[in-house]
Amino acid sequence: MSAPNSSFDPVEVADLSPQAVAAAVTAALTAIAGASDLAELKDVRLTHGGDHSTLALANREIGALPPHAKADAGKRVGEARAQVRQALQARQIELEADRDARVLVEEAVDVTLPYDRRVAGARHPLTTLHERIADVFVAMGWEIAEGPEVEAEWLNFDALNIGPDHPARTMQDTFFIGSEDSGVVLRTHTSPVQIRSLLDRPLPVYVICPGRVYRTDEFDATHLPVFHQVEGLVVDEGITVGDLKGTLDHFAREMFGPETKTRWRPSYFPFTEPSLEFDIWFEAAKGGPRWIEWGGCGIVNPRVLAAAGVDSDRYSGFAFGIGIDRTLMFANDVTDMRDMAEGDVRFTRLFGAEF
Ligand code: FA5
Ligand code: MG
Repeated sequence: MSAPNSSFDPVEVADLSPQAVAAAVTAALTAIAGASDLAELKDVRLTHGGDHSTLALANREIGALPPHAKADAGKRVGEARAQVRQALQARQIELEADRDARVLVEEAVDVTLPYDRRVAGARHPLTTLHERIADVFVAMGWEIAEGPEVEAEWLNFDALNIGPDHPARTMQDTFFIGSEDSGVVLRTHTSPVQIRSLLDRPLPVYVICPGRVYRTDEFDATHLPVFHQVEGLVVDEGITVGDLKGTLDHFAREMFGPETKTRWRPSYFPFTEPSLEFDIWFEAAKGGPRWIEWGGCGIVNPRVLAAAGVDSDRYSGFAFGIGIDRTLMFANDVTDMRDMAEGDVRFTRLFGAEF
């Protein structure tokens, strides 16, 4: 005969005794408090909160108890497990916060460290100069015009009153596309844009056109076979040489500073009458200060206005063409123009990186 079931006391089931449960909780809380990082806490969670922990095993034994003992043991073990779960959760939050704080310090970037990486690229100084020039004129309400580098010979020469026998039309100065009688050239100046602008735009016209031009010139310290000009054209009623000089003096001061000195000399261009060339007093580091030609200009020849269908009795205008490479030379004391064309970063780096 077996003993009556009523004498069964859960306290006698070793794992379910209040002492055993309390000891399991103490062991768990000690281990949790002792976990010094998230990896350690993970092990503690397995040992004290996992399926094989003392409290989980105790929980499973409750099922074997007689009904009247289940409630008491269930409450004890349930509270103990909840206490361990909460302690695990609280420690988890603490250790995550520790880790985040540590990562912030350890992975911080010291922006004051010396700069030892490759320098950032920058646009070529001629490109940024194009933009500075455009800004000066756009600020006065002018527009930017464009034209192709491969140009009709008629626009590059004939329409500008450069007749077929003009010396600038021989092979000496001009790159032809195909044969010499193809009628297509690499533009030798930006002046064909004068004609294009007058054909395309309603009057009055106030435009500049910066761009690349080509000549069969030598490649030396002051000449490039591929260089840059900025053309300016104004056609309006009552335009005089005074407007021309005022505009170019303003332009020179914007480029080279308020003290800049300019000089005007009579000259000849078939497409302007009268024609002038203007010089800048250049305090060159090498060779001493002297006048250097900056560009050509003049009052638009009525023949050019006629070629573009403009009534020259009512309208007059001025035009100019200046060398952008020369501008960079004056503004930055460049002694050899070839440096601008050769693409050596030791030259361009002197102008700094822009961001
Ligand atoms: C002309 O090209 C005329 N189209 C300018 C003009 C426009 C006059 C409108 C009147 C009205 P010129 O050939 O002088 O003119 O060239 C103008 C400027 O381009 C020169 O003053 C110089 O600054 C620059 N230049 C000329 N040839 C070279 C070259 N080979 N390399 C670098 N810059 C040059
Ligand atoms: Mg000239």
